[in-house]
Amino acid sequence: MASVFIPSQQRTIDNPTEISEFLKPFGIWFEQWQVAGRLQPTATDHDILEEYAPEIEQIKKKGGFVTADVINVHADTPNLDAMLQKFNKEHTHSEDEVRFTVSGKGVFHLDPEGGPVFGVTVESGDMINVPCGMKHWFNLCNDQHIRCIRFFEDTAGWTPHYVEHGVHSDFSPMCFGGSFLPQSKRIEPVIQP
Ligand SMILES: [Fe+2]
Repeated sequence: MASVFIPSQQRTIDNPTEISEFLKPFGIWFEQWQVAGRLQPTATDHDILEEYAPEIEQIKKKGGFVTADVINVHADTPNLDAMLQKFNKEHTHSEDEVRFTVSGKGVFHLDPEGGPVFGVTVESGDMINVPCGMKHWFNLCNDQHIRCIRFFEDTAGWTPHYVEHGVHSDFSPMCFGGSFLPQSKRIEPVIQP
């Protein structure tokens, strides 16, 4: 289940309704879609797109997206470090970054204008968007796995535009059961910036 952590306030939010209410003023959608009993462990990308077709159509209409695909990242993914290092530095995109997590776990850090910086841990069943132009970065959790449905207006829109003097190195992603360690016990991110 998702959780939000606001480091400057040492505040954690893990109630889905409260998460949604916290994220809404920033223009971030948060939804939880049913996962139990919907997919076999052997489900292919096609199976996932077929099973979630109703939700996919709803999000396409809501956000003007034209395509959806499935990305499956795991510890054995070739060139994993290079792939992750594209997204673990503060950046923006020219369209919304919308992700539904089928399995695995990761942390989006969001850096909205006027602050505060906060982390959103996403797990199976969580759908969020990062609005077009909002500064953010992403880290996988320790098992280095995430499988997501992605939505695109134009696949070129997902190119990262890096932020000069990004603040990503000031924050460590903590993924232990959706909670975060106190600052004094911080560990380094899975993938070094
Ligand atoms: Fe991104």
